[in-house]
Amino acid sequence: MKTAVLASGRGSNLQALIDAWQSGSLPVNLVAVGSDQSEAQALKRAEAAGIPAKAFPLNAYPDQLAQEEDLLAWLHGNEVELLLLAGYMRVLKADFIQKAGFPILNIHPSLLPAFPGLHAQRQAVEYGVRYSGCTVHFVDEGLDSGPIILQEVVPVLPGDTEDSLAARILEVEHRLYPEAVRLLVGGKLERRGRQIWVKK
Ligand code: GAR
Repeated sequence: MKTAVLASGRGSNLQALIDAWQSGSLPVNLVAVGSDQSEAQALKRAEAAGIPAKAFPLNAYPDQLAQEEDLLAWLHGNEVELLLLAGYMRVLKADFIQKAGFPILNIHPSLLPAFPGLHAQRQAVEYGVRYSGCTVHFVDEGLDSGPIILQEVVPVLPGDTEDSLAARILEVEHRLYPEAVRLLVGGKLERRGRQIWVKK
């Protein structure tokens, strides 16, 4: 399955996907990495792994719709069949999602529907929850609102800061995202309305 990843920054989730792919434990073909940030470390990680990488900086376009149109044409040109958002810090427009024609997954650093949007780990620390975690979900037109594929709980410890919690959650993200992709590609996910059932 020809798979692309979009990332805006550091790209540690992208790296986890690349590592799994290179070790033969991710049954996809990573064919493209895109970013909305020209300086994203994710683009350098892709290049180091020999994956074509391209920036689509918003300021090069009249608006986000035009940027996403160009991005989608590039993904279609690469015959992408699956798109993974890995720290892509922009909400894709409905137009992009409707025209994509391939599934889009996202990973989010909280137990959705709690703490959607930016700074999920800071929101969790400030709220005072005892447990947070991460979620891999299908992308729909809302904000972190699509059907949930996998979630895993991570404890919030006394004295945690946004950064210490983010680091603890990130370790789990790096394992959970490849796992969700394996389930999808292996035909193990069955959609029943909003619910995603995992077949044995
Ligand atoms: C990850 O924690 C990811 O879950 C989060 O950004 C971080 C990216 O790190 N995504 C979101 O908050 C999306 N709403 P990375 O660039 O090292 O993978």
